[in-house]
Amino acid sequence: MRTNYCGELTSQNVNQQVELYGWVQRRRDHGGVIFIDLRDRQGIVQIVVNPENKAVFAVAETVRNEYVIHVSGEVKPRVAGTVNANIHTGEIEVIANKLEVLNASLTPPFMLDDYDKTNEEVRLKYRYLDLRRSEMFQRIATRAKINRYLREYLDKQGFIEVETPILTKATPEGARDYLVPSRTHPGEFFALPQSPQQFKQMLMVAGIDRYYQIVRCFRDEDLRADRQPEFTQLDIEMSFIDEQQILSTTEEMMRGLFKTILNVDLPKSFQQMTYKEAMSRYGSDKPDLRIPLELVTICDLVKNIDFKVFAEPANDPNCKVSALLLPKGADLTRKEIDDYTKHVSIYGAKGLAYIKINDLEKGIDGLQSPIVKFFPEDVVFALIERLGAKTGDIIFFGADTKKIVNEALGALRIRLGHDRNLFTREWAPLWVIDFPMFEYDEDEKRWQALHHPFTAPQVVDNDNVVSNPGEALSRAYDMVINGYEVGGGSIRIHDNQLQKEVFELLGISETEAEEKFSSLLGALQYGAPPHGGIAFGVDRLTMLLTHTDSIRDVIAFPKTQTAACLLTAAPSKASEAQLKELSIKVRKPVIEA
Ligand code: AMO
Ligand code: AMP
Repeated sequence: MRTNYCGELTSQNVNQQVELYGWVQRRRDHGGVIFIDLRDRQGIVQIVVNPENKAVFAVAETVRNEYVIHVSGEVKPRVAGTVNANIHTGEIEVIANKLEVLNASLTPPFMLDDYDKTNEEVRLKYRYLDLRRSEMFQRIATRAKINRYLREYLDKQGFIEVETPILTKATPEGARDYLVPSRTHPGEFFALPQSPQQFKQMLMVAGIDRYYQIVRCFRDEDLRADRQPEFTQLDIEMSFIDEQQILSTTEEMMRGLFKTILNVDLPKSFQQMTYKEAMSRYGSDKPDLRIPLELVTICDLVKNIDFKVFAEPANDPNCKVSALLLPKGADLTRKEIDDYTKHVSIYGAKGLAYIKINDLEKGIDGLQSPIVKFFPEDVVFALIERLGAKTGDIIFFGADTKKIVNEALGALRIRLGHDRNLFTREWAPLWVIDFPMFEYDEDEKRWQALHHPFTAPQVVDNDNVVSNPGEALSRAYDMVINGYEVGGGSIRIHDNQLQKEVFELLGISETEAEEKFSSLLGALQYGAPPHGGIAFGVDRLTMLLTHTDSIRDVIAFPKTQTAACLLTAAPSKASEAQLKELSIKVRKPVIEA
C-alpha cells in the first residue's frame, strides 16, 4: 500500500520506510548507481538504486521513461552538494530496496520535462501524458477547489443549483450555434446552449428566487487565447434585486475566492467605471488597470491643422485622434517603434505617429518626430502640456475611426505595459457599468444588442429606448480583472411588452420572436418577478488564479484554435447509416477563400 506521494516527501520523512507508486520521469546511470526520477501527481522524488542490491539493480536497468513502477525504500538525506533547492523533495532521496515494474510504456512522443519545447499539437494529442505533469495536475486541482468554493459560497447564500437542458433551442449570445440533428423529428435540430439565459429567467418566473449552476456553454465563434468553443460558466440569477445587490453578492464571492485560493485580499469595494470612460481612457471595455498608461483625446487641438491624416478624423464624429504617453519612452529604438507600428496595424491602424521629447528645454529642436513638421508650434506644445510629457518621454498617436483608434492604442497600451513592466499592482478588479443598450451593425445595417436582447434599458420611459436607441444605456455590468472580462450580466426585462419592443428594434419580427423565444415571452406574461443575474467564465477565473495566459492550460481536454479535439480526433464523419437515420445528406463542404 502506498505510504506517501512522491512529491510530498521532505527531510521530515528521513529514515522512514516508504512505499511509492509512480512513473519514471528519467533514469540516469551514474558510475554504477542508477538514479530514477519518480513522478506522481504531487511531484518528483529521486530514487537511488545501488549496484550491491543486485536483484533491484537488474530491474532498475530495465525501466524506461514513463514505465509505471512500485518502489519500496528508505528516505535518506542527500549528501552535501547534491541538494536540489528547486524541487520540494530536493533535500532527500529514497534508497530502493525493492523495485517492481507494474507496466511498461512505449517511448513517449515527448519527454515530459521538455514539454515547453514540444509542439502543442503533440501535447494535445497525448493529453493524458501532458496531464501527468505536476504543474498540470495543480491547475486541474485548483479548478476543482474553485468550483467547490463557489458552490459552498452560493449554497450558504441560499442559492439553489439547478441543471438546465443541453439539448435545447438556440439562445443568442452573439455566436453561432452548435446544432444537433433530431432522429425522432426528421429535419429538425436541437441547439446546444450558448448560455442557460432563457432557462434561468424562467426559473425566476417559477419562483426559484436564487439560482446558480456550474454549466457548460457552447459557442461556435472565432477562438482566442481566452476562448473555447465549449467552456464553463458559473451562471447566477436572482429575483427582487437591483444591480447593487448582484454586484455586492458576487464581489464578496470573488474576494472569498481569491482569499481561499491565493490568500490574496482584493479591495473591499471594487472600482466602478462607465463603459464610456473605459473606452475613452483605455480604448477597451475590459481595461487592465494594472497599467498606468491612458489614451488622451486631442481632436480639439488638431482639427484645424494642415496635416490631413489628423485633421480629417478630428472633424469626423465617427472618428477620433488620441495620444498615448509613455514616460521614459524616448529611448525606444527605431526597430522597436517599427515593431509597435506593425502591432497596431493588426487592428487596422494605418501608421503610428510619435513625438520623442529628447529635450524639452530646447523647444521644438528638442523633439524628434516624423510629424511635428506638419504641426504649428503652439499646437505641439499644447499637446505636450495636455499629456504632461517631460524630457525623456514619447507620445504615440492614433487617428482613425473610433473603433480602430481604441483597438490599436488600447492594444499598444497593453503591449507597452508588458514590455516595460509597468504594472503598478498585482490585481486590478473593476466593474464596467452603463453599457450602451445597442450597437449599430454597419454591415447588416441594423441595431444589435450589446449584451443580449433580454437586458433591461436604464430609462423607465420606454419611448426613449425606441426613439433613440443609439443613446439608450442598459442595466448591464461586466466584472473585469487584469484586463480579462471574467463575468457579465444584467437586470432583465420582465415586462412582456417592453421585451417585444426591444425585439422589434433589433429587427426580430413578431413571428420570428414567437418562433425563437415563445417560451420566455409566454413566461413573461404569467407574473414574472423583477430579476437579474450574471455569469462568470470559470475557465478565465481559473486562468487568473493559476497564473496562466492560455485557456487550454486549465481545461483537462481542450480544443484547438480550429475547434477540434486532437486526442479523440473529433469532429469526425458520421456513417451513412447514422446519416440516413437522421434524414441528413452531406453536401460538399463550401471552402471559403
Ligand atoms: P457572456 O456572454 O458575457 O454572458 O458570458 C459570461 C462569461 O462567460 C465567459 N465566456 C467565455 N469563456 C471562455 N470561452 C468563451 N468562448 C466564452 N464566452 C464567454 C466570459 C464571460 O464574461 N447569459 C449571459 C450572462 C447573463 O446575462 O447573466 C452570458 O452568457 O468570462
Ligand atoms: P505619412 O505622412 O503617411 O508618412 O505618415 C507620417 C507619420 O504618421 C508616420 O509616422 C506614420 O506612421 C504616421 N501615421 C500615418 N497615418 C496614421 C494614422 N492614421 N494614425 C496615426 N499615425 C499615423
